[in-house]
Amino acid sequence: MKITVNGIQLNYEETGSGQPLVLVHGFPLNHTIWRKVAGRLSATFRVIMPDLRGHGASDAPEGTYTMDLLALDLLGLFDALNIKKAVLAGQSMGGYVSLAFACAYPERLSGLGLIATQAAADAPERRAGRHAQANEMLTKGIASLVETMTPKMAVSATSRRITRQVMKKAIPMGVAGALKGMAERPDRTESLSGLHIPALIVAGGADVIIPLERTHEMAAHLPDAVLQVLPGVGHMPMLEAPAALAKALLARFAK
Ligand code: MLT
Repeated sequence: MKITVNGIQLNYEETGSGQPLVLVHGFPLNHTIWRKVAGRLSATFRVIMPDLRGHGASDAPEGTYTMDLLALDLLGLFDALNIKKAVLAGQSMGGYVSLAFACAYPERLSGLGLIATQAAADAPERRAGRHAQANEMLTKGIASLVETMTPKMAVSATSRRITRQVMKKAIPMGVAGALKGMAERPDRTESLSGLHIPALIVAGGADVIIPLERTHEMAAHLPDAVLQVLPGVGHMPMLEAPAALAKALLARFAK
């Protein structure tokens, strides 16, 4: 399904009925990575899985996709779908966007899920690397990014294969926009203490992209957070441990 928000077409998939739950994918992925989890939640929640600007079947305009801009797109989605309040859960970059949304529009959230993500900003060298990579996207395409990222994303060969297939479909202009936006994201650690929203933090115990230290920092600052670390799971809990992730979301947010 497509809607127009902020001058672009945003694609989303919806399944189930009940309390709204919006699941936000990471970089450089799309909404399809949530399907294994969504199938386990649709009896309880109205599950909405958007493709962020620049990803999946959403438009990919030129520019820097700040996390605030991506959050504003989600606000447009909430309004277009008549969602007054939802549980918002995002993985990795989807978590950065969810945190930006929670800081800007806390009154629209009944819960916040932060999955394999962090509140910290990039170190200067990482920021510079992202800008260099963004330029490379537009000249050389995404092939080398897919090759370097795939081994880091998941532990099992099957989850890596699925992740790779999804990443290969990414649009260079969208990938560049997201890289520049992630490079610019602020450190939100200090804002966490002001977020009085029921939160769930899920981390893969074997995630090599987000250090566990970052996870524990978020748990220490958020006033109402439940933390779950999934042993042996990498950066993609929705593929690597969909049953455990769905169970954690149900336990924390089902009314
Ligand atoms: C993601 O998985 O969304 C990204 O790898 C996060 C990042 O690069 O910081």
